[in-house]
Amino acid sequence: FEGNSTNVTFQEHTICREERATALGRFDGFRGCTIWFTGLSGAGKTTISFALERTLNQLGIPCYGLDGDNVRHGLCKNLGFSKDDRKENIRRVAEVSKLFADSGMVCLASFISPFKEDRLEARRIHCCDKVRFVEVHVSTSLEICELRDPKKLYKKARAGEIRGFTGIDSVYEPPENAEIVLDAGTQSVQACVTKVLKHLTEVGIVP
Ligand code: PPS
Ligand code: MG
Repeated sequence: FEGNSTNVTFQEHTICREERATALGRFDGFRGCTIWFTGLSGAGKTTISFALERTLNQLGIPCYGLDGDNVRHGLCKNLGFSKDDRKENIRRVAEVSKLFADSGMVCLASFISPFKEDRLEARRIHCCDKVRFVEVHVSTSLEICELRDPKKLYKKARAGEIRGFTGIDSVYEPPENAEIVLDAGTQSVQACVTKVLKHLTEVGIVP
C-alpha cells in the first residue's frame, strides 16, 4: 500500500542527529531510540514503561512515554480494535515513535501490538531509517492478567460486553525474538525497570 500522498517530496533536514543531541542533553552523543513494549492487556506495559520514564528522566535522559490508552484519545481516536485498525494504530504510532527517537528522545512505546507482522513493520519503520528499536515482551500470563484485571476489561469481555478482546476472542501472537523478556507476573516493577536499564547500558543508550 503506497498511500494517497502523491506529489510529495521528502525534505532532508540540514542538521544531523549529533547536532540535535548537542542541544538536547547534558550528555554527549545521540541516544534517540524506541523501546517497544508489547504484551497482553494488564501485563504491566504502561506501569513499567512509565516507571522507566521516571528513572530516565531523573538521570537527565530526555524521554517520552507513548501509550495505547492515551494515543487512542487523540492521534488514533478514529481507530477501533479490528485487525485492520490495530494494524493502522501500530503503523501510525511506530512512525510517531520514530520521529521522537530521531529527535534524540528515548521513546517508550507501550502497545499491545498483538500481531507479529505489525510489530515487524514497526521495527522496519525504525530500521530503514537506522533508528534503534528495542522490543520488550512483557510476558505476564493471561491467567495473571485476568486475575489482576485492573480495568475490569476481562470481566466485560467474558460477559460478552467487549468483542474482540485480546487474549479472549482476539489473538496475541507472542514475539520469538524480543531483545528483552520481562515476566511482570512474577517480577516486581522495579526489577523489570532494572533489567531494561541494564540492557540500555550495555548498548550505550544509558547514561
Ligand atoms: S493495539 O492492539 O496495540 O492496537 O491496542 P492498544 O493501542 O495498545 O490499546 C490497548 C488498550 O485499549 C483498551 N482496550 C482493548 N484492548 C484489547 N482489546 C480490546 N478489544 C480493547 N478494547 C479496549 C485497553 O485498555 C488496552 O490497554 P492495556 O494497557 O493494554 O490494558
Ligand atoms: Mg496500559
